[in-house]
Amino acid sequence: MKIAKNIYSVGVVDWNLTDFHGYHTSGGTTYNAYLLIDNKITLVDTVKNSCTFVSRMINNLSSIIPVEKIDYVVSNHAEKDHSGAIINIMEKAPNAVLLCSPHGKENLEKYGILPAKYRVVGNTEELSTGTKTLKFFHTPLVHWPDSMVTYLKEENILFSNDGFGQHYGKSCMFADEAGIDIVLKEAAKYYANILTPYGTSIIKALDALKGLDIKMIAPAHGMIWRRKQDIELIISDYTKWAKHTPGDKALIVYDTMWGSTEILADTCYQQLSGSGIKTELFNVSKRDISDIPTEILDAKFIVFASPILHNQILPTMGKVLVYLSGLKFSNRKAWCTGSYGWAKNAFEKLEGFVQNASFDLIAPGFYVKFKPTDKEIEELKNKLTEEIIPRIKE
Ligand code: FEO
Repeated sequence: MKIAKNIYSVGVVDWNLTDFHGYHTSGGTTYNAYLLIDNKITLVDTVKNSCTFVSRMINNLSSIIPVEKIDYVVSNHAEKDHSGAIINIMEKAPNAVLLCSPHGKENLEKYGILPAKYRVVGNTEELSTGTKTLKFFHTPLVHWPDSMVTYLKEENILFSNDGFGQHYGKSCMFADEAGIDIVLKEAAKYYANILTPYGTSIIKALDALKGLDIKMIAPAHGMIWRRKQDIELIISDYTKWAKHTPGDKALIVYDTMWGSTEILADTCYQQLSGSGIKTELFNVSKRDISDIPTEILDAKFIVFASPILHNQILPTMGKVLVYLSGLKFSNRKAWCTGSYGWAKNAFEKLEGFVQNASFDLIAPGFYVKFKPTDKEIEELKNKLTEEIIPRIKE
């Protein structure tokens, strides 16, 4: 599919992807690769290493040029969803030279897919393809240490690899065609689940790219950003997310065994909502836990509510908190509540998990034995009103 003069999208849609190492991708995804036709023909990134995807990409390429004519293959990132077809392409294009970052070379070598003809490109190095110029920017940890982006100067197109991507598969290629609201939502989910730990690196990358006149962002997943207002919006969102800027809502993340913790969660929900705080309930057993990080992007306060089972928090809540401990959100306040049978001390583990996930615990939790009594519900309401809500509103 042509995306600009002499520039084609030659990647594939993975319609059936539902899980990307734990991140539930309800909308499938795409592995985008781009072909630049100039005196030197360049392929930017490849696709995941499945026979079907490799075959589809080679067919896409063959419909534009003979594959053996490719001169350069840019590997912006060594993760297998982008490097999976490098070997296949290099076999078919024996004169091609692979271009990668120093860490990219190491990682491709470790994967056993570094071709004989390769060249490590320096940060901000430029390469002429004849009438056009590619400029490479090392962007370590957006997503891996090897990550880089490639800027096509004359066309003002940024091939941003994982950055600005979405796991969202469609037959169209542009964010404005797919619907900007859904694409922004998927971009937020992608950022939250994949890039949240790398905020500092993302700010550095955004600073490095600040001087570029970007008229199109072509990521390696999902839709291409081409309208000025959409490009400004996604860069602004990335800046906000990378700075861990808290949102304005409260989120109550909970599970329940016999309904007691749900009563506590619901009391928190009603009390917070009633005080004018935008509040959402999230039962981790009923909903997709990949949506929790996305909700946290927009949150400033999270209640974690769990029952105790076998002297431990409920495994469903443990799974969520272990996942969040890897993402390491900053600047979010949190508090805990829950119901126990006889092992109240186990809530120390809940609070420990919450702190380990980098949330700022604002007060000791509120815990009840078995089902909360009317008196305990009143105590919870009073605690929320007098102690917790003022802290949320600070
Ligand atoms: Fe889309 Fe980090 O790979």
